[in-house]
Amino acid sequence: MNVQIIDLPRFLDKRGNLSCVEQLKHIPFKIKRSYWIYDVPDGESRGGHAHKALSQLIVAVSGSFTVTLNDGDVKRTFLLNRPDQGLYVMSGIWLTLDEFSLGAVCLVLASEEYSEDDYIRNYDEFLRFKGK
Ligand code: TYD
Repeated sequence: MNVQIIDLPRFLDKRGNLSCVEQLKHIPFKIKRSYWIYDVPDGESRGGHAHKALSQLIVAVSGSFTVTLNDGDVKRTFLLNRPDQGLYVMSGIWLTLDEFSLGAVCLVLASEEYSEDDYIRNYDEFLRFKGK
């Protein structure tokens, strides 16, 4: 499965910590868009779709949540809870985010601008896209 936990730079000092991401240096794509998901009520899920072309880096900049990935063959769940790590997810993977902790913030750095045409929101269509 085309996913990878990427350790991001971190600069720790007595004033607090700082992490950063540079395109094509820490992640293998150019960033065209960033967005963040926050104030997720207890028990709610996000995602539930795949992308045809978009790659992304998902970071739990605050709190924690789980990311479940499914490439049509294999399903894997990651608990993200570190602001100095990102989950790199390539296109063609069905993705669901669950179990947001109180105050969790999910930052997404994306390789494409927003385009509804790049989304596959129907699971049967996803399986067809994967040739299943
Ligand atoms: P949606 O894709 O449903 O969120 P999730 O990642 O949980 O599946 O997006 C929610 C709404 O926000 C939807 O109306 C589309 C809009 N949206 C944008 O306009 N720009 C963006 O960059 C994103 C990610 C979503």
